Amino acid sequence: NDFGDTSTVEGPVKHFKATHDHFSSPEQNKTTLSIIVVGASGDLAKKKIFPALFALYYEDFLPEHFTVFGYARSKMTDGELRNMISQTLTCRIDKRENCNDKMEQFLQRCFYHSGQYGSEENFKELDDKLKEKETGKLANRLFYLSIPPDIFVAAVKSASCLAASQFGWTRVIVEKPFGRDSESSRELTASLKKYLIEEQIFRIDHYLGKELVENLSVLRFSNLVFEPLWSRQYIRNVQLIFSEDFGTEGRGGYFDSYGIIRDIMQNHLLQILALFAMETPVSLDAEDIRNEKVKVLRSMRTLQVDDIVIGQYKGHSKGGKTYPSYTDDPQVPNNSLTPTFAAAAMFIDNSRWDSVPFLLKAGKALHSKGAEIRVQFRHVPGNLYRRNFGTDLDKNTNELVIRVQPNEAIYLKINNKIPGLGMRLDRSNLNLLYSTKYTKEIPDAYERLLLDAISGERRLFIRSDELDAAWALFTPVLKELEEKHVAPELYPYGSRGPVGAHYLAAKYNVRWG
Ligand code: NDP
Ligand code: BG6
Repeated sequence: NDFGDTSTVEGPVKHFKATHDHFSSPEQNKTTLSIIVVGASGDLAKKKIFPALFALYYEDFLPEHFTVFGYARSKMTDGELRNMISQTLTCRIDKRENCNDKMEQFLQRCFYHSGQYGSEENFKELDDKLKEKETGKLANRLFYLSIPPDIFVAAVKSASCLAASQFGWTRVIVEKPFGRDSESSRELTASLKKYLIEEQIFRIDHYLGKELVENLSVLRFSNLVFEPLWSRQYIRNVQLIFSEDFGTEGRGGYFDSYGIIRDIMQNHLLQILALFAMETPVSLDAEDIRNEKVKVLRSMRTLQVDDIVIGQYKGHSKGGKTYPSYTDDPQVPNNSLTPTFAAAAMFIDNSRWDSVPFLLKAGKALHSKGAEIRVQFRHVPGNLYRRNFGTDLDKNTNELVIRVQPNEAIYLKINNKIPGLGMRLDRSNLNLLYSTKYTKEIPDAYERLLLDAISGERRLFIRSDELDAAWALFTPVLKELEEKHVAPELYPYGSRGPVGAHYLAAKYNVRWG
């Protein structure tokens, strides 16, 4: 392949600081790392990628010799890029000690090259600039495609022909969306594989980089109390919930061709589901984990139209404030049927999860912002306290909540005796609130994922067969909704979403947590 990758699939890579063996070995000292942010003038680059790179630099996680190159069509000088980056430094580091000094040092490593995404000539110019900065024997290159998906392939083609590393590895981080359905996703994979091998492609799902998602396996596989309960025998249902308290503002154009099912459910929520439900992997190696995730996805029942509810937010006024409807966005057609909310019931037809509903809910412009996993357990058979407290007790079953964001926490709802001479019960939480327990701030998901890509760790990136299996579950329903022009149920901006979601849950005897 054109990228001449010399890397092999590596085992689990521990993250060492620059002062540690990995980056300070004699070999690493002779290696330059170039990180090329393609689409550097865009929203994601400003909001997430540059701040994450700076945070890694600040924390000494980048190798000694590295440079960051912005690439986009906009005309900018190195100075203007640096100015742009410094203004959008909204990451967790900006209140730290010596931030300004470190920032200045980081900016001195940032450069810019203006070019067209499909131009081999412009990528050749980039290659020349990269070579000027590449000292030492080995030169590794990490491209981050932070551009609209319709130009992924053109950029990879030009970059692979003219800007691949000749003396080191070349890796490419690809942002979602990876297609719109099974067919387009397969086409994208096939096109990328004309220029790259699978090991060079790092398909990012930033939810996999979130601290509590990363912790899921630790919680399950290193605590005896959870794993034995992790099945249909004890778990009544599992809920995966994503909500945002703002609309599609600023991204309406992109969103209208994708909708919430493709934007959140098919990737972020489904990935969490796969990690949650997988069998114990053979090891922590990327391939072992991804093998188990694929098995879950392939054991799942294709989503049926009767098992999904879709909604779209509408404008309204409250307390003197006016909230826009989705279709008020100038980039969205007035008659758009694109869902901004969806709730779905999904099933894994294997022996561990047979008949356990996995309820997924994702919505924009809802009453709150958050992401969580709620695990509702079955009732205690023959509960001794039922005699005194009635069958209501059966409704108060244990519930484990993994709050991915905000206010990261893991808590378990239990029935507890209210202290005192009488016998009264209430529901209490065994609570692990991260902000109380841990003083260290939680890194942004993009920091972890960038570091993994640099280290060649693929565990948190999506393999092509995973992607295929994920699309297979949603493609038929997406097609049906679109072909039949199914109208989404309207819900007011800032509300709890369409009532249809409650009927869907009730169909499976579930109440949303
Ligand atoms: P932008 O729309 O901001 O595009 C990034 C850059 O690409 C722009 O600055 C522009 O640079 C160039 N560009 C935009 N449209 C075109 C076009 N039609 N043809 C050629 N070049 C174009 O995207 P984002 O930064 O928001 O997102 C980048 C990628 O990340 C996308 O794939 C997106 O789906 C994904 N993503 C984004 C998230 C976000 O929060 N923004 C979240 C998750 C994923 P120039 O004109 O200078 O060349
Ligand atoms: C992105 C979606 O993948 O995730 C956006 O495209 C969404 O629509 C975002 O807003 C949410 O990410 P986070 O990390 O802010 O919860």
